[in-house]
Amino acid sequence: MTPAVEIRNIAQFEGQDVLIQGWLYNLRESGKILFPLFRDGTGILQGVVVKSAVAPEVFESVRNLTQESSLRVWGKVRGEKRAPGGYELDVTKVEILQIVPTTRPYPITPKEHGVEFLMDHRHLWLRSTRQRAILGVRHEIIRACRDFFDDREFTLVDTPILTPSACEGTTTLFEVNYFDEKAYLTQSGQLYNEAAAMAVGKTYCFGPTFRAEKSKTRRHLTEFWMVEPEVAFARLDDIMTLAEELVAFVVARVLERRREELKTLERNVSKLEVCVPPFPRLAYDDAVKMLKEKGSEIVWGSDFGGTDETLLSESFDRPVLVHGYPSDIKAFYMQPDPARPEVALSADMLAPEGYGEIIGGGERAADEQLLLRRIEEQKLPREAFEWYLDLRRYGSVPHAGFGMGIERVVAWICGLDHVRETIPFPRMLYRLTP
Ligand code: 4AD
Ligand code: MG
Repeated sequence: MTPAVEIRNIAQFEGQDVLIQGWLYNLRESGKILFPLFRDGTGILQGVVVKSAVAPEVFESVRNLTQESSLRVWGKVRGEKRAPGGYELDVTKVEILQIVPTTRPYPITPKEHGVEFLMDHRHLWLRSTRQRAILGVRHEIIRACRDFFDDREFTLVDTPILTPSACEGTTTLFEVNYFDEKAYLTQSGQLYNEAAAMAVGKTYCFGPTFRAEKSKTRRHLTEFWMVEPEVAFARLDDIMTLAEELVAFVVARVLERRREELKTLERNVSKLEVCVPPFPRLAYDDAVKMLKEKGSEIVWGSDFGGTDETLLSESFDRPVLVHGYPSDIKAFYMQPDPARPEVALSADMLAPEGYGEIIGGGERAADEQLLLRRIEEQKLPREAFEWYLDLRRYGSVPHAGFGMGIERVVAWICGLDHVRETIPFPRMLYRLTP
């Protein structure tokens, strides 16, 4: 039996007969020799079919192959310095699984396509080398996040997607009918994370989150993935350090294991290599001063826009932690600074190179009365938060945490100019298909 092998392992099979299962990527013909390029999801391998060396039906079936036709192909592996990947396959036999008819050819060709066309064909676009590289980096980032928290003995506690209330403000809630009542798709697992932290001390959740964002920017999705740690007894400084260690760990892991993908994406890795702690920390007050000096029209008390974030990050070669945002622009659960209640014990991390906010978090209000006041001020329905208030009634302790948006991190690490390519099937203001 000829072993079925993955192209990524082809070097181990030099001189041997193997079976490759995949798709035709491209076909070049040069006289009586065919050069089909096969892809199998793990790499690309060039085949060689010499007319005089194979049965006529083998030559003919390869010659008739169309882009993305599926097949099994047998042959002997030969080292060839000039071939992509350094090896070639001397084809001896093929079995065609499905041929793509010439009357309805594969829609994505090597020529340039518009973004909307590619997005409409996202289910096929994923097969391209560049998209596969992004998928690989995304996977590595997610695995690194899990390893980071698992190695530090955080307990993974899954939080619900269907929820009875808002976490991050009512303007971006997706409403769903839940039998006879209204439910909302979660904006963040945080409130449940806080309950979990009181049970296990250090916890994290990692799941899809939803924002009915009407913004059509290169940083916003309506469905995105967030990893959120929450730590009992932690203060603002502790979670800033945790955030910095997490990001440094993730970047180092991708640099270590995904060089090939970063090369495919033509990412300037020297910009990633400098991302080692300590990251600069900047008070919101100073950030506002800095922005004004750079010509921004920001006033103390307002949130940074995308352009402000870009301006700020330009001054640093690594991610920067901005802390102490005005309480008024932050969510109801934020702990005000006791020395200066107009400021919240919150922190955001802004990625370098203009990629904007990748992390948001801070210390949580630990006092029941304070929370009740904030819920009232923000006109949130108190009943829906009764269970959350229980956490302040039964052994309330200081605690803190944050959320890191995976797609923003993928965009930054891969050097992509839009989040639409960072997730397999993006959901955006005007995009629900495929
Ligand atoms: O700053 P945010 O809204 O914070 C929270 O949701 C907190 N409850 C998290 C916590 O403390 N546990 O969102 C956190 C991160 C942002 O920094 C950003 O990376 C990402 O989630 N994010 C988005 N990513 C893509 N599209 C959107 N519409 C996003 N909104 C937030
Ligand atoms: Mg935020």
